[in-house]
Amino acid sequence: MEARVAVVTGASRGIGRAVAERLAKDGCRVVLVSVRAGAAEDAAEAIARTGGQARGFSVDVARYKDVEQFVEQVKKEYGRIDILVNNAAVIRRGTLLSVTESDWDAVMAVNLKGPFNCCKFVAPVMMEQRWGRIVNVASIAAHTGDITSAPGYGPSKAGLVNLTKTLARELAPYGITVNAVAPHAIETDMSAQWSEERRRQVLQGIPLGRMGRPEEVAAAVAFLASDEAGFITGATLDINGGAWMG
Ligand SMILES: NC(=O)c1ccc[n+]([C@@H]2O[C@H](COP(=O)([O-])OP(=O)(O)OC[C@H]3O[C@@H](n4cnc5c(N)ncnc54)[C@H](O)[C@@H]3O)[C@@H](O)[C@H]2O)c1
Repeated sequence: MEARVAVVTGASRGIGRAVAERLAKDGCRVVLVSVRAGAAEDAAEAIARTGGQARGFSVDVARYKDVEQFVEQVKKEYGRIDILVNNAAVIRRGTLLSVTESDWDAVMAVNLKGPFNCCKFVAPVMMEQRWGRIVNVASIAAHTGDITSAPGYGPSKAGLVNLTKTLARELAPYGITVNAVAPHAIETDMSAQWSEERRRQVLQGIPLGRMGRPEEVAAAVAFLASDEAGFITGATLDINGGAWMG
């Protein structure tokens, strides 16, 4: 993967950060994106300190115009974009009766419109190169419906899996593959919010009997972003310890 340029969203922590670290280790020049001012920049500095090539940008992926400007800047500075990992997401917990319209809109804006925005502006760069890898980070909830009391989250991830298949077909003639990974129960800040009871329930449902690690998701993303995965497109790879077998 020497000198490939990889854009990873939601890369300041958790799975996104592990993906950025892995791709940097594999030799990519990594562009980290996060909404929190300075967070992606800090993560990029940490990667650079270990010898990787990385730069951070503060961008809200839900904002169409901001994503357009960001991609323009990356194009200008790097001249190419080879890999896009749409990982940024949010969750708003509640029930149908308690979640608000703004909760629903925020989840859809980041989890579904965000990847659309990024694909919209990155795909033309990849089309010109006649090569590209897009990997979307979905969730087990795309298959099962949400099981953590967050009515918008599962539908946003199911939409992302559908977008993956739709774009896989549209972009295939340009040598661009589009795939998804569907993690479950990965040790990150998102899952750290679970109650003890919820954690116990989750573990009971995992045949492998443990939580997953961000690095295990990163390994799957790195594979889908590699040359070796060139005949895989429109697929969703489950990373869930056996909790759901499609
Ligand atoms: N942790 C799990 O168990 C689990 C399970 C299934 C799916 N996932 C998915 O994996 C991905 C990463 O999850 P995580 O647990 O590492 O989450 P996290 O909450 O630890 O990290 C999310 C990242 O996204 C960024 N982000 C949020 N809103 C953004 C926006 N509008 N624009 C740009 N960046 C934004 C945050 O700053 C952060 O860097 C998400 O897509 C999540 O839905 C996680």
